[in-house]
Amino acid sequence: MDRVNAILANEEYKDWMEQIRTSEKERRFCCHGIDHCLDVARIGMLMNLEEKLGLEPELIYAAALLHDIGRAVSYQTSEEHHLASVRNSRSILLATGFSGKETELILEAISKHNTTGKEAEGLSYVIYRADKLSRRCFDCEVYDECYWKKDEKNKGVVY
Ligand SMILES: [Fe+2]
Ligand SMILES: [Fe+2]
Repeated sequence: MDRVNAILANEEYKDWMEQIRTSEKERRFCCHGIDHCLDVARIGMLMNLEEKLGLEPELIYAAALLHDIGRAVSYQTSEEHHLASVRNSRSILLATGFSGKETELILEAISKHNTTGKEAEGLSYVIYRADKLSRRCFDCEVYDECYWKKDEKNKGVVY
């Protein structure tokens, strides 16, 4: 997990996460801090093991840690957060030892995590699905106000 821990220690990464923490201080809906990122990573790992996908754990963790960093930008501008996440993750991945090929795979998963990941395979599918499964809709105070469609909301625990 050396490269994953390098992301956690990366100054750019820490800065984006701090901006998200500040922006979400008063947020009543789901937040996008480290707890969410680790939930996505660990659910992704469980899927990886249970479905015998054979994905490299560091790729799952890297994509999970970075997938929402664009929220820091989307709270300030109207840019969609998955696009800002892709743009701001590249330099962090290359600075923390991921190869060009690994970086492209991770960026693809980030770009699809709230768009076409449902129909994707491998890492993109895992991150899309783990992101959705990570939310505790069944224990949510703002259930009725959330924009997720009722049939998309999690009714219980899967992982
Ligand atoms: Fe997201
Ligand atoms: Fe997310």
